[in-house]
Amino acid sequence: MDTYIFRKTINRLPGAIVHCIPTPDPRVLEGYACRQQAGTYLQEKAYKRVLLITDQTIHALGYDQLIEQGLQERQIDYVKFDAISSEPDIATVEACRKVALAHKAECVIALGGGSVMDVSKMVAAGAKMPHRSIRSLLLKFLPVWGKTLPIVAIPTTAGTGAEVSVGAILLDDKGVKNSTVLIGLQVVLVILDSELTVHAPLNVTAACGMDALSHAIEGAVSAVRVKEKDAAYAKEGVRLVLQHLPEVMVHPDNADARMGMCRAALYGGHTINKQLAGYVHAFAHSIGAKYHLSHGNAISLVMMPVLEYQKKACEDKYAMLARYCRLTDKENDAEAAEDFLKAVANLLDLCGMNKLKSPVQTSDYASLVKMIAADSINYSSPITLKNSDIIQILKTITVNQTA
Ligand SMILES: [Fe+2]
Repeated sequence: MDTYIFRKTINRLPGAIVHCIPTPDPRVLEGYACRQQAGTYLQEKAYKRVLLITDQTIHALGYDQLIEQGLQERQIDYVKFDAISSEPDIATVEACRKVALAHKAECVIALGGGSVMDVSKMVAAGAKMPHRSIRSLLLKFLPVWGKTLPIVAIPTTAGTGAEVSVGAILLDDKGVKNSTVLIGLQVVLVILDSELTVHAPLNVTAACGMDALSHAIEGAVSAVRVKEKDAAYAKEGVRLVLQHLPEVMVHPDNADARMGMCRAALYGGHTINKQLAGYVHAFAHSIGAKYHLSHGNAISLVMMPVLEYQKKACEDKYAMLARYCRLTDKENDAEAAEDFLKAVANLLDLCGMNKLKSPVQTSDYASLVKMIAADSINYSSPITLKNSDIIQILKTITVNQTA
């Protein structure tokens, strides 16, 4: 059954709901190896008991050492929890919250990628509701009265924007990814330390970079109306990725370009909070879940087909982005929009992300259409796709085109 009419009718509803949710607007600290200053900030704010959350890969790389050193120098009493997998579940958050409560943590430092950020947010919320199970907190919207514990977020990848986005994803009891929006999330400081991303493998850098780009583009073309400041995050996010990702791919140790990507990711996180995402994400979530593809790879696979398909509805916004990023001198919107799409396609090419092997099979169309249509209900996309439109896009990324 095509839920097109229903989806089109409620298209503006998610955007309206999101406007009512307070979102973090933290202080931002930038610099190469600046993560040591986490201790200085905590001392300034008089936080004496801290929980440092990270994962074992980050620990093996030694990225936590500078932070611990900063905490020790300022006599801040901290404990560390690093047992976090790439797909964290309820048990992980329960175990981590236990440590937070036992230590009477006043603040959480989250050092890592999206999974560490997600666990940290749920722990910071769960610590304020110690008598409730984490399972009972896995709601679509979770109000935290009096706000979560304050979080100092130190992202180690430049992509998800999870350092400020109000969502958290956890595996539920059935192993299904469950997304929760935290109302009252308190991120007090984001530390953008380019040293943490300099040694990331190029395929990870590219996949994360494409994710950041998708957040910014989808925000810029979203049907949600936002204030100028929020609109600027989206435009600037697109510009930063187009400027810095090519340089990072050629000179991975260029700390300035890496910092540009860290900023782009942060702006993307702000953008998700205000303008939500769109069909690039609806397709990527469904294809990623069905074929176990990483988020960045799934995004890269569907980016051009979706952007091309919705071109007519977004022509003026694509043209605006082309002009803002100085990609065109065309006055005609259709031509300027083409220049924008070419720039995105060129970037995918340069990063090698246009050569990803598609796993999509015609035999899976029915289930994929259902998943994509259901997912798109959560967004305020510039257009609403009918099931037949979704199939048209799927056809462009299908391995066996016989059906
Ligand atoms: Fe994303």
